Amino acid sequence: MSNHLYLWLLLLLEGLVLPEIEVSAVEIFTPSEVVAVNGTDVKLSCTFKSTHPVSDQSLIVKWNYRPPNSQRETSVLYFQESSHPPDAGLFKNRVVWSGNVAKRDASITLLHVSPTFNGTYTCQVTNRPDVQGRDGEIVLKVVQKASVSEIGMLLAVVGGSCAVILVILGIVMGVKMYKKRQEDMDIEEHSIGKTDLY
Ligand SMILES: *[C@@H]1O[C@H](CO)[C@@H](O)[C@H](O)[C@H]1NC(C)=O
Ligand SMILES: *[C@@H]1O[C@H](CO)[C@@H](O)[C@H](O)[C@H]1NC(C)=O
Repeated sequence: MSNHLYLWLLLLLEGLVLPEIEVSAVEIFTPSEVVAVNGTDVKLSCTFKSTHPVSDQSLIVKWNYRPPNSQRETSVLYFQESSHPPDAGLFKNRVVWSGNVAKRDASITLLHVSPTFNGTYTCQVTNRPDVQGRDGEIVLKVVQKASVSEIGMLLAVVGGSCAVILVILGIVMGVKMYKKRQEDMDIEEHSIGKTDLY
């Protein structure tokens, strides 16, 4: 009998405790991929939801970086009460905090990106006592401006071809119209000759 009671008590406790754990997670939102042009500044957007009030004292944001095909993590920026950018390594003087604690925004901006910035950026947010949820992950691709001028060149080639085709079409039409006019004149002369017969 007391065993039964114990079981009920356990179930009751579980019912009270489990949902509490489930809702107490930080939800993080990021784009999955960002493409940036070599030499420009690029914002890596990260916003979050927390079931607990957010304040400068409760919030910790960690941005980390993994190069392509590597699991080695490097710190990009650490935020607690204020921004703590790294004082050495790839991201020294190349990252600024672009977030807003009150707006649940933990974004950063990478400055003057180069192709060596290619890789995966993770946004990790903890808002005590909220346990951390799944990290946000952004794959950054830094492309050369050349790809833009390649598109421009392609457009120029297509445009040029169109112009050439139009000119050829114009000449063909002109020749056809000229020939038709000649034929019409021939027919007219012919029928004039015929009416003369009557
Ligand atoms: C673009 O990247 C190359 C390396 O691939 C670098 O040498 C060059 O300076 C960069 N250009 C700009 C505008 O940052
Ligand atoms: C970076 O990514 C771009 C786009 O995928 C690629 O064209 C380029 O070769 C990469 N550069 C490096 C250094 O990984």
